[in-house]
Amino acid sequence: MQEAGRLARAENKIVGLVPTMGALHAGHLALVERARRECSHVVTSIFVNPTQFGPKEDLAKYPRTFEADSQKLAEAGVDAIFAPQPAEVYPPGFRTYVNVEGLSDRLEGRSRPGHFRGVATVVLKLFEICQPTYAYFGRKDAQQVRIISQMVRDLNLDVEIVVCPIVRETDGLALSSRNAYLNAEERKAALVLSRALTSARDELESGIRDTLALQTTMQRIFAAEPRAALDYAEIVDADTFEPVTRISRPAYVLIAAFVGKTRLIDNLYVEPSKTGADELEFHL
Ligand code: PAJ
Repeated sequence: MQEAGRLARAENKIVGLVPTMGALHAGHLALVERARRECSHVVTSIFVNPTQFGPKEDLAKYPRTFEADSQKLAEAGVDAIFAPQPAEVYPPGFRTYVNVEGLSDRLEGRSRPGHFRGVATVVLKLFEICQPTYAYFGRKDAQQVRIISQMVRDLNLDVEIVVCPIVRETDGLALSSRNAYLNAEERKAALVLSRALTSARDELESGIRDTLALQTTMQRIFAAEPRAALDYAEIVDADTFEPVTRISRPAYVLIAAFVGKTRLIDNLYVEPSKTGADELEFHL
């Protein structure tokens, strides 16, 4: 893989990498399509990365659907699938990890200690192995892509990060491989995440700017859904991921919640409108 990547780059080919953990859905495929448009070669990696799962998390039961995934990727026209085994990525004696300090301890990092250390480490390895010119990530995992961009900057990595919008089901649920865990009732209940974000957007649109008020609204919406338990609903600066009291710069409304035993995340990206005034633009 590394040799193929090096060769392509030496020939001035544009290599696009789409890192995934498989169980591919239309959200992943949107990243692949974007890469196809912008690159001459597209590599998709499929690797359920053990180091980003906590001891009580779903590593063992995470869906592994390699046959169906490779079929989808063939149809989407990718040039290569990189699907290593855990022992190839982490051979005995492995002991080097990447820690993006500060950004990794909050929000997802607080609820999932060690998660972003595992993500940053495997993504750096994937970059080194596949040698991409561009790497494609979804805004669904907003904190993840912020941390990876920071790593690229801090370690002078020769790759450009491309961020793609969230792909949703028609009823609003953000696509996720973990949606496969939901039974029919939980699937309905899972709409509480996008519903809370839509309410936050509506309140912002109606001129409310106090983030505490938005949080209260979102908490109230969760309180009315007994199958869901809110982990956090926070409004943070899109650059620092620190909480903000007022949106005057690009910001995220971030939600993490359990629906039954399944942990889901979703977010709304908000930025001041270029037309000025006190207008905001929303990316749900
Ligand atoms: P995974 O959860 O498989 O997601 C792979 C990529 O698809 C990520 O960049 C994620 O943000 C994007 N994605 C997932 N759902 C999406 C949706 N509904 N709309 C748009 N993009 C979506 O994220 C990971 O894997 C791993 O942490 C990884 C980066 C591969 C490192 O192991």
